[in-house]
Amino acid sequence: MTVPSTLADVANAALNDTYTPYSHFPVGAALLGENGEIFKGVNIENVSFGLTNCAERTAIFTAIAAGHRHFHGLVISGKTDEPIAPCGACRQVMVEFFEPDMPIWLINDQGQEIETNIAQLMPGAFNNLH
Ligand code: THU
Repeated sequence: MTVPSTLADVANAALNDTYTPYSHFPVGAALLGENGEIFKGVNIENVSFGLTNCAERTAIFTAIAAGHRHFHGLVISGKTDEPIAPCGACRQVMVEFFEPDMPIWLINDQGQEIETNIAQLMPGAFNNLH
């Protein structure tokens, strides 16, 4: 399935709202709730670099804080030559909240896209099923 255009539009628009004074590397995200809600995320950096919150975790944590637990898709967008790849910390957070086969679209601002899921992005993950 190609990335839903509304979800891609939100993730791409979010590239304008990042707080990235240190890396100048904007990332946008859009998370689809089970009733069609869209949760936007941006990366939010800090002068204490390790405190930076990635765009996809911002979107996930925003949705969780609003009481949502079930999701139907995630888009992550970067101004990158290839579709952006999520970091390991974010993959572990996705393991916590996403079904293994929920679509995750990795895109860039040039219109490239890859569809994947957390089972592919994090094989053999530590999870809460043990
Ligand atoms: N970043 C994200 O927001 N998501 C990713 O998937 C990769 C990395 C952010 C963190 C930091 O603000 C900047 O990109 C450079 O690493």
